Amino acid sequence: MSHDRLRETFDQWAQKGDAERMEASHGITIAQVMPKLELKAGDTVLDLGCGNGWATRQLAQAAPGVQAIGIDVAPEMIAKAEELHSYTIRARYDVGTFEALEFADEHFSRAFSMEAMYYAVDLDKSLAELFRVLKPGGRVDIVIDFYAERPGTKVWADHTGVDMHYLSIAEWQAAFEKAGFGSFETERVVDPAGPGDESAFEANEWTPDWQTKVDTHAAGALWMRATKS
Ligand SMILES: C[S@@+](CC[C@H](N)C(=O)[O-])C[C@H]1O[C@@H](n2cnc3c(N)ncnc32)[C@H](O)[C@@H]1O
Repeated sequence: MSHDRLRETFDQWAQKGDAERMEASHGITIAQVMPKLELKAGDTVLDLGCGNGWATRQLAQAAPGVQAIGIDVAPEMIAKAEELHSYTIRARYDVGTFEALEFADEHFSRAFSMEAMYYAVDLDKSLAELFRVLKPGGRVDIVIDFYAERPGTKVWADHTGVDMHYLSIAEWQAAFEKAGFGSFETERVVDPAGPGDESAFEANEWTPDWQTKVDTHAAGALWMRATKS
């Protein structure tokens, strides 16, 4: 998988309105996570794979005096983020890749990512880069919907047209530890509204039947937290 392929794919997603669709669906998950991030004045936060920047802006507003920077490989996503930007918010958006972060060592006190890290072209290199740009004691919060303990999602990889890392929690932990992170903990984030209404369910290639929808909902999103000790 190349960055060109990712760029082409996610530029197309941006053009067909998927940035807004993701903001709506991922925003429901992050509504439960954001209040628990405990960002504080002076934090500098990196948002990896920021899409249209909705979470970058929320991070920048999570406490007075927070500065947030979103990066994304897809220029069309960054263009959307800039369109939606408000100059009352300390946020910025750059085209860039996880594998070569264009920031100095120890630039950020915090990092965040929603539904993006499993697209890394080189996951080990991406986590090593993340470790490099975090200050000692810096924390990363990564939330993903696609992981092996949520088997109904495995089929997603057949439909995106790009490579995706379908890892178990133990494999994610091993990858974080290999990059140098000293602590790793997880939490599941389940939508309290439930899986929806069975009578309104329509099968599709992503969710072939109602039971898959129920099981996938019950597994929840995976929130991983790691610290650079
Ligand atoms: C599923 S979208 C999620 C976007 C946003 N975080 C959200 O929740 O709406 C994944 C994003 O990660 C970006 N991305 C994927 N692989 C990347 C990489 N290796 N480097 C930088 N960005 C990447 C994509 O361009 C895309 O915008």
